[in-house]
Formats: sequence, C-alpha cells, structure tokens
Amino acid sequence: MATFLPGECDHTDIYKLMTGLVVPRPIGWIGSADAEGVPNLAPYSFFQCVATNPPVVLFSAGVNDGHEKDSLLNARTSGEFTCNLVTGATAEAMNQSAAELGRGQSEFDFAGLTPEPSEAISAPRVQEARASFECRVQQIIELGNPPVTHAVVFGEVVRIHVDDSILDGTRIDFAGLDAIGRLAGNAYVTTRDRFEISRPG
Ligand SMILES: Cc1cc2nc3c(=O)[nH]c(=O)nc-3n(C[C@H](O)[C@H](O)[C@H](O)COP(=O)(O)O)c2cc1C
Repeated sequence: MATFLPGECDHTDIYKLMTGLVVPRPIGWIGSADAEGVPNLAPYSFFQCVATNPPVVLFSAGVNDGHEKDSLLNARTSGEFTCNLVTGATAEAMNQSAAELGRGQSEFDFAGLTPEPSEAISAPRVQEARASFECRVQQIIELGNPPVTHAVVFGEVVRIHVDDSILDGTRIDFAGLDAIGRLAGNAYVTTRDRFEISRPG
C-alpha cells in the first residue's frame, strides 16, 4: 500500500489521486444566467445530492488564483442555478460545454444546445436533458488554501423535471435515463452494466 500525506504532496498529485479514486462521479450540468441574462452552462463532477427534506444538491467549483468560474459567479449573483443530468445522448455536448468561453458567451450556442426557461427561477435548463433540477442557492462554503480553493454551492431543489418516458410513478428507469459518470481526465462510464443485491433482514 502506498500512503500519501496530502499536506506534503504536490496539489496536482492530490487532484489526480482524489479524482481517480472517488469514481464514478455523477455530472451536474450547471445552467445559470449572468446579470444581463446571458445563459451559461458547464459540467461539474464535484456534484452530489446531499439532502432530501428539502432536497439539496451541491456542486464545487475550483477557484484558482482567485479566478471564479462563471457558474459560481452567476449562482452567487443571481442566487439560482439549474442542474441537468448528462446521459449518453448528451455526452459530447456536455464535453463541448466545458470550453472556456469569454464571459457573456453562451455554451448553449457553442455546444448546439437549447436553453429551456425554468418555471420557478430565471436560470435556464437544458432542453435536451432527460432530467433537470431548478435550484435556489442555500449557502456557499469556501474550502481550501490559496492559490487553489473550492467554493461549494448548495442549492435547494425547488422543481424536479423528468422525462415521462423514464418514469414509473416516482421510480426511475435507469436504462432509459442512461446516465454517465466521470472517472478521471477524459474517461467516463455508462450506467449500462447494472446488478442488484438484496439487503439483509
Ligand atoms: C466532465 C467534467 C467535469 C468537470 N467537473 C468540474 C468540477 O467539479 N469543478 C470544476 O471547478 N470544474 C469542473 N470541470 C471544468 C469546468 O467544466 C470548466 O472549467 C468550465 O469551463 C467552467 O465553466 P463556467 O466558467 O461557465 O462555470 C469539469 C469539466 C468536465 C468536462
């Protein structure tokens, strides 16, 4: 067994270890809008559902040398974001939407995606996504030591949109959803190889 002491390692090595080991990670495709209403979209694999009453999701944006990514800035300024699920059909577009475009340029246009108006908030959803959450920012927690810090954005889910074709009541058809997960670097997994284990007792 190799053992690493995070405080004594190069940050890139720790990043590689953490993103290589905590796998697969779901991808939150974060939709937001700037003060002028220009839509913004970017994938975040530091993403999770962390509470259900009420439902809360989070995404964590890296802040390098104080540079805040647009999704973080927009969520902070507007208090809103959407979180769209990435599936096999939208994997390529998701990757395109990670392009570093200038502020005020929309990744929706760049990736050939359609911004869909939300019901309860002004941040756009991804029309091509099979499921989306509309979220209001609950809190933002800053973690880490400069020059590499993270801002963890917690959002209360105020609307859950799911494609009818993958719903049985409130149960999700995983095959129909076809979610993808991120490993490290350019590697991804599908959710097509599934198995079941019955819980004891
Ligand atoms: C699959 C994938 C997952 C990513 N996850 C994260 C993440 O969790 N945190 C982060 O800061 N950047 C992440 N990135 C990089 C951002 O998507 C990228 O910096 C993007 O340009 C940010 O856009 P924004 O400035 O519009 O928010 C990820 C990229 C990809 C392709």
